[in-house]
Order: sequence, then C-alpha cells, then structure tokens
Amino acid sequence: MIGVFDSGVGGLSVVKEILKNISNRQIIYFGDTARLPYGTKGVDFVKKYSEKITQWLLDRGVKIIIIACHTSSALSGDYLKKQFQNVPIFDMITPTAEKISAFGFGRIGIIGTPGTIKSKAWENHLLKLNPRLEIYSLACPLLVPLVEQGWVDKKATKEIVKEYLSCFKDKKIEGLVLACTHYPMLEKVIKKVVGKKVKIINPAEILAKEVGKFLKENLEADYLPSSAKVTDGFQGNGYQIFFSDEPYNFKKISRMCFNKKIKPTILDPF
Ligand code: DGL
Repeated sequence: MIGVFDSGVGGLSVVKEILKNISNRQIIYFGDTARLPYGTKGVDFVKKYSEKITQWLLDRGVKIIIIACHTSSALSGDYLKKQFQNVPIFDMITPTAEKISAFGFGRIGIIGTPGTIKSKAWENHLLKLNPRLEIYSLACPLLVPLVEQGWVDKKATKEIVKEYLSCFKDKKIEGLVLACTHYPMLEKVIKKVVGKKVKIINPAEILAKEVGKFLKENLEADYLPSSAKVTDGFQGNGYQIFFSDEPYNFKKISRMCFNKKIKPTILDPF
C-alpha cells in the first residue's frame, strides 16, 4: 500500500499521475483539510502535522510515503526522511530537481505557495546539482482559491495568472515549475500566458514515473503483492480517500482529477 498526503484536495492531482504509472495499486490518501492551507503556515506547524500524518499512514500499513504537497515537501521533506529512515519517502522536489538538471536548463522559473518559495528548498536542491542555474521564484497565493472555486478557465483567472507571471517576462526562462499541487489544474492558462517557448514542468508527472520505476526495481511484490485484492473501502481502482474535515467544492475537484465523483471519509485522527 502507498500512503499519499497533502494539506487538502490538491494532492489528488498527484494521485491522478500516480494512477497512470502504477498498476495493481492500493493508495491511502490523507488530505489535512482541517488545518489547510499549509502554504501560509510556519515551518514547525507543517513539520508537526506532516509527521503525524506520516505516522498515521504507516500505522494503517502503508509501505511507501508520498508527500503530495509542495509546501510540506519544502518545509518538512528532509525532516521526515530523517525521522522515518526505514521508509521510502518521495517528495515533490527531489525527482524534478534531478530532471531539471538533466534537461540542462540555464534559466528557470518556479511558482508555489509563500511557504514553498520562502523556504528556498527548490534553490537548495537545484543549485547543488547545477550551481550555474539561474532561478526566478514567485509565490502566487491567489491561484489556490481560484482552483478550489473551479475557476480554471475564467477570464479573471487568466488576468491574475498574467499579472503574476509578468515578472518572468524579461528573464528568458526556459522552463516553469508548477510547484504547488493546485497549479497543474491551471496548466492550460499558464501555457497560454508564458507561450510555447517555455516548458511547463509538472513535478507530479515526474514523481509518479519515479515511483513507478522504484516499485518495479525494488521488488514490487514487497510493496504491492500481485495477489492484492482491492479491499473493502478501496474504491474502483484501489484508493481510499480521507480528509480531516469536509473538503470544499470536492465534487468539482474530484471531477477535475478523476473524471468522476468519489466518496471520501471524513476523519480527524489528530
Ligand atoms: N497543497 C499545497 C501545496 O502544494 C497548496 C495548498 C496549501 O497551501 O495548503 O503547496
């Protein structure tokens, strides 16, 4: 079983990618809607709840943890890896940073929550791999509520995206990292605004491929026995979704990610 967590609903965009890359999977998802957003919280808060959620998922029998939240990855990724050394933990930054360095980009832009951008976690990872990379990062806090409202293709949304991204105009960035779980849902608008020359990088796609590869190379059977049946509570193709409080506008978000309605369980273990 794979444990996936986020501050709320955004991590479902990561689950969507994981499902494309992993067969015979059982995923337990936890969205911490009772304490959302993480993007404007302090480091200690995010670390504390990320650790509690990780432990809760492990107690339910998961063997792999995916931190499907950029803010948690940036603020608590290294900490969780130290606290749970025997557990494979995937974060949103590491696989993408490696890819960016392999692509050989010279200049890139990064957009994320205030917490992610302030932490400089992307800069720390990327500059270790390529000290000459020019990185321009920007917090775009208004984009999260727009996605949660379902306003992914409204004129007003395009204007806001335009306003935010105008700061990259003269930077000649070659790639733009969507370093927040919600932003892939705005990919179309973002693409239109930045133009064809800028490669849009969705870390969820890169992470999901990495997890798929890891499972194949590391005795998939240990993590996902081929005899595994979709057990009680796992919906259709094997996921169980928990939220610590009622998720806002969930119908819309679940349609955006899964093309169907899904029924979550509301449970706050903390
Ligand atoms: N899931 C968060 C992230 O990817 C965005 C929402 C929040 O601020 O909690 O950073």
